[in-house]
Amino acid sequence: MSKYLDCYDYAAIHAQAEHVVKHRKKLRRDVVQKYLDWFDTHCATSKLRFQQAQEVIPGGIEHNLANNHPFPISIDRAEGAYLYDEDGNRYYDLLMAGGPTILGNNYFGKECAQFIIDKAPLTGLYSEYERKLAELVCQYYPSVEMFRMLGSGTEADMIGVRLARAFTKKKEIIRIRGGYHGWSDQFIYNASEAPEDAACLNGIPVECFQSTHCVEPNDIEALEQQFIENEKFGGTAAFVMEAIGQDSGAVPLTREYHAAARELCKKYGALLIFDEVVTAFRLGMGGAQAEFGSKPDLTIFGKIIGGGYPCAGGVGGRREIMEMLAAGINKNRDKKVRVGGTLSANPLTAYAGCLTIEELAKTNAHETLAKASDYFMKEIAGLTEKYDVPALVFNHQSILHIDVAGSQHIPTIYKKDDPEFARQSKEASQCVMEFAMALAAEGTIISGGGKTYLSCATAPLVDEILGSYERVFKGFE
Ligand SMILES: Cc1ncc(COP(=O)(O)O)c(C=O)c1O
Repeated sequence: MSKYLDCYDYAAIHAQAEHVVKHRKKLRRDVVQKYLDWFDTHCATSKLRFQQAQEVIPGGIEHNLANNHPFPISIDRAEGAYLYDEDGNRYYDLLMAGGPTILGNNYFGKECAQFIIDKAPLTGLYSEYERKLAELVCQYYPSVEMFRMLGSGTEADMIGVRLARAFTKKKEIIRIRGGYHGWSDQFIYNASEAPEDAACLNGIPVECFQSTHCVEPNDIEALEQQFIENEKFGGTAAFVMEAIGQDSGAVPLTREYHAAARELCKKYGALLIFDEVVTAFRLGMGGAQAEFGSKPDLTIFGKIIGGGYPCAGGVGGRREIMEMLAAGINKNRDKKVRVGGTLSANPLTAYAGCLTIEELAKTNAHETLAKASDYFMKEIAGLTEKYDVPALVFNHQSILHIDVAGSQHIPTIYKKDDPEFARQSKEASQCVMEFAMALAAEGTIISGGGKTYLSCATAPLVDEILGSYERVFKGFE
């Protein structure tokens, strides 16, 4: 009972999410033990590395993009469709560094190495590739008249809000519950939606996020209500949304909600900000805004625009807003919005970004990826039916949701003060963790949570990758 769903059919997805949450199945305990044993026998070096790292790195790991249970795998190298760990195990890479390496691992490795040898990765001065990259972004995003490169998606989200506040001279910000916009004081996951969650708030004064308000996804009335409420405090500067919905579209947004968001921002004089860190250049060249036919005032870009090279992010949008940014040579600096970043727009990343965007367009990569993804997901849905594993199975092109836990949907089903909410959340995270661990042991590394990605390198191998999934589904209760 796990049909392949249309990513724009929110009603069907919500209904299936409820089914998954209420009838969730787990891997059998003997199967879990088998996988734990596999890690012990096949990943001894990774285990050792984790023990060593914990001496000098808090928690022993600095990336939380993937599953790290029972311990993080220590990767030696990545090439094309594969990741290789220090113990010599080879995995299909469905994590894709959290999404940016759309063309496959190390696609422009030689070109970028030569660039470093010939030209140096960092000078602190202007390079021609900054302009070239900005031109490419403006070319594919009609809403972007000017673009500013930054060091990460987190920075870009911060600057987007700063610009919106300076431009509108208003303070309040609205976001969708569950959306991720980096880890700044203002946006850190859950801070404004769960002030009782101390783990989110250590070190963050309450003032940092008390002007940031969360609304429920797809509830147009609640959104307008928040705009009205904010009028009492001087009005809304911006509505910030992950353009396809929280956690890369795990709880997808409807087309009606998109249209209403645009209208309400206009009505209340707020900027509409699309966070396209994951979707820009992955959901087609024009990202989610082309898909929805919507025109945000500002767009947040992230890791993809550097083709997977560090450090990458950026903000783009209407000229009159973007011209408020102050770095560089500017008159009237007192009226500008400050922005900086030593590694922002470094020549290597700008160069890699240009190569990647041009290659994506030249190879028509998105069409191939979308076709392979649709096929893969239909087959996955078939497997969940065959082994009777309740799951949410849908995709936004190459952003795949294969979710056996329904974690992101729990708040849409249970109220926070319902004891079932806490029980469900705990059970769901165990289920997600064990599922990802099992897949790794079966040869495929996926992203954390219920989402993962295909790349141009993994797309031709989907039939082999299905084997990993089938072996794992077989082990469910
Ligand atoms: C939608 C979204 N916004 C912002 C960010 C933050 O980007 P970064 O990790 O580059 O700071 C992410 C990271 O994955 C993201 O998915």
